[in-house]
Amino acid sequence: MENFKVVGQMVNASNSTLVVESDGTRFIYKPRSGERPLWDFPDHTLHLRERAAYVTSELLGWDVVPETKIQEGPYGVGSFQKWIDAEPTTVDIFPPDSVPEGWLTIITGIDEEGNEVTLAHEDSTRLQQIAVFDVLINNADRKAGHLLTDASGNTFGIDHGVTFSSEDKLRTVLWGWIGQNFPEQYLADLELLKSMIYGSELEELLDDSELTALVDRLDTLLAQKIMPSPSPHWPAVPWPVF
Ligand SMILES: Nc1ncnc2c1ncn2[C@@H]1O[C@H](COP(=O)(O)OP(=O)(O)O)[C@@H](O)[C@H]1O
Ligand SMILES: [Mg+2]
Repeated sequence: MENFKVVGQMVNASNSTLVVESDGTRFIYKPRSGERPLWDFPDHTLHLRERAAYVTSELLGWDVVPETKIQEGPYGVGSFQKWIDAEPTTVDIFPPDSVPEGWLTIITGIDEEGNEVTLAHEDSTRLQQIAVFDVLINNADRKAGHLLTDASGNTFGIDHGVTFSSEDKLRTVLWGWIGQNFPEQYLADLELLKSMIYGSELEELLDDSELTALVDRLDTLLAQKIMPSPSPHWPAVPWPVF
């Protein structure tokens, strides 16, 4: 086992999420032993889904997930994701008349203090690519705080523990492109991913029904070539959004 030093714990995290360092490199460590049971995901599989999201991003060649490995750590096996110095800047809540120009409005609601607020996100190629990625991995928890943008302006997705369910659970803040044409430039990547799933590490990380569902989602996107709409059977937007 590498010599990891625990340097912090994310206090508002839902599971035990630790900041660790080894040789000056910082990681987000999520031990398997710290995963709380969820009603809709098999126990002790969240760290595997973190890795599966990274593997999928790599198979696509999109680099949307910081490098994520499964390793032994101070609290046993878990996922280790490279720390990125980045901030959530691409999605936010505004008074309804203050949404920045060019941003896409998602929903308007009432906040805890009774004020009208509007959820909006940037209209960028990168964010749309991450929206497509979330459809593929069936991300059930794409919050504003799970989209981090670094100093060079590149945006990454983090927190992929609740992904790859075999049931439709897409829950995200990135609904700005509903019903629009699917970006053509990604079709070849999707075809390639589809051809590589079996025989890849994804087979060890996900179960048979989850692999089949992934292929089904790819087939649907490739056939319809439309950015999907929310399922009527599931909350479309995570709450709180941060
Ligand atoms: N790779 C990363 N780089 C930088 N910060 C991160 C990274 N992963 C997580 N974080 C920070 O830690 C917080 C909690 O991590 P998250 O993956 O959301 O854990 P949880 O599954 O417990 O919600 C995030 O909101 C973010 O601030
Ligand atoms: Mg989180």
